[in-house]
Order: sequence, then C-alpha cells, then structure tokens
Amino acid sequence: MRDELREINLESVNSTNRWAKEHISELNDGTVVSAKTQTAGRGRLNRNWVNLGEGNLFLSFVLKPDMKYSKNFPNITQYLSVVLARVLENYNVKPQIKWPNDVLINGKKIAGILAETSMGQNSFNGIVLGIGVNLNARREDFNKIDKPATALNLESIIPVDTENFKQELCEEFFRSYDEFLEKGFSCIMDEYITRASFVNKELTVALVASEVKGVAKGVTEHGELILVGDNQELTLNIGDIL
Ligand code: BTN
Repeated sequence: MRDELREINLESVNSTNRWAKEHISELNDGTVVSAKTQTAGRGRLNRNWVNLGEGNLFLSFVLKPDMKYSKNFPNITQYLSVVLARVLENYNVKPQIKWPNDVLINGKKIAGILAETSMGQNSFNGIVLGIGVNLNARREDFNKIDKPATALNLESIIPVDTENFKQELCEEFFRSYDEFLEKGFSCIMDEYITRASFVNKELTVALVASEVKGVAKGVTEHGELILVGDNQELTLNIGDIL
C-alpha cells in the first residue's frame, strides 16, 4: 500500500478511463479516478458499459510502471480480477473468474475490467486500468443488459457501502501491486485457477473475426487460455467466451 491514496472523485463523467487518459500527464502514478455516474462507459472489444448510476463503482487506476516490467502488463487485468475476487469474498459471496477477466457471481457478471495504454509520440505514458463493479442495483435494471448480470446487493446479505468498497478494493490492489509487477501472472496463478469458472468446460470463444470451439484445459503460466479442439490445441491471448 502506498503512503497515501491520491484520489479524484468526479460527480459525473463520460468515462473514467477516458478522463484519466486525457489528464494522464498531470496525474501521478497510483492515482485513482472515480465517478458517481458514468454516461459513456467503455467496455472490452468496443462494447459499452451500462451506467447503473449512483451507488455503483466506476473507477480507473492511473499506473505508470517502469518499462522493465512491460512483459507483465498484459496480465494486469487478470491481477485486478483476482484482487476484486478477494474483496468480494469478504461479502460472503463466491466469485468466479471467466477468462480473461470477467468476475461472476452465481454465473452472472458483476464486474468488468478494461485496460487501456496511453502512448505519447514515441513514449509510454502509462496504463489506465478501469473497473466497473455493480454494487447496488435492482433486478429490473438488468433488463437493459443483454447478458446475465447481477449486483453485489442482490447476492450478499452484508450491506454494501460504495465508498467502503472502493477503499477496500484500492487497498487490496496496492497491497500486492509491486509484487505483481515483478513476478507477473505467476504470483496470482493459483488464486486465478481456483476461482476459474471455465476449466474443463466446452466453450465457444469469439475472436476478432471468427469463433473457435473446444474444451478449456486451463491457462498457461502467462494467463493465456488453453483450448483443446478436435485436432488442435490452441493458446489464446485475446477473445471472449460466449
Ligand atoms: C467489460 O467490457 O467488461 C469492461 C468494462 C469496464 C468498465 C469500466 S467502468 C470504469 C472504467 N471506465 C470506463 O469507461 N470503462 C471502465
């Protein structure tokens, strides 16, 4: 944990990731940008992130790690998925991770994670690591979402305070962030696999312009998905389990 958390709390913003990228040159490493509501949240694979409004978490970590750790940058979203799972477990629920970094409770998505790199002309400015967690919603709010989704208040008997949850998440994130930068996926691999919802399941994975089917054997030491198809074993580093 760093000495003090640098926090920027916005009322309403289009996207905390976008805001953080636009202001990255003025922001210190480790700054946390959050907003009460987010009007144009960005999701993975060019999707959007639905605004469930106040009481939910919309947050971006501004990270400016040394380039000597760059081989571990691609796993930072998986690191955050494990961090989130640890925090959720304090609420007496059983989170599962769907490769690469979705967090589910009872098979329904409760959070989404999106990392974006900010590049200058010839330089690396940093990583904006965004997370949206559904903390307080009504069941009917999910009618506007096309996939099964849920919120923590609907799954836990423990009351959910958004500000407390945010502090718990940030504290847990920075508690082992330096270790993650040095060691990469290997330092979370066991925790990731223990919570993986997809291992030994028959899956269809959407790639950029195609789909592949197979049984998930697990993940590599770099967090890639190992998919065994009819005649081939594939190692995927991007995709979306359908
Ligand atoms: C996904 O598609 O599952 C990733 C969704 C990421 C949403 C979060 S909410 C805070 C941050 N700001 C954004 O615009 N997106 C991320």
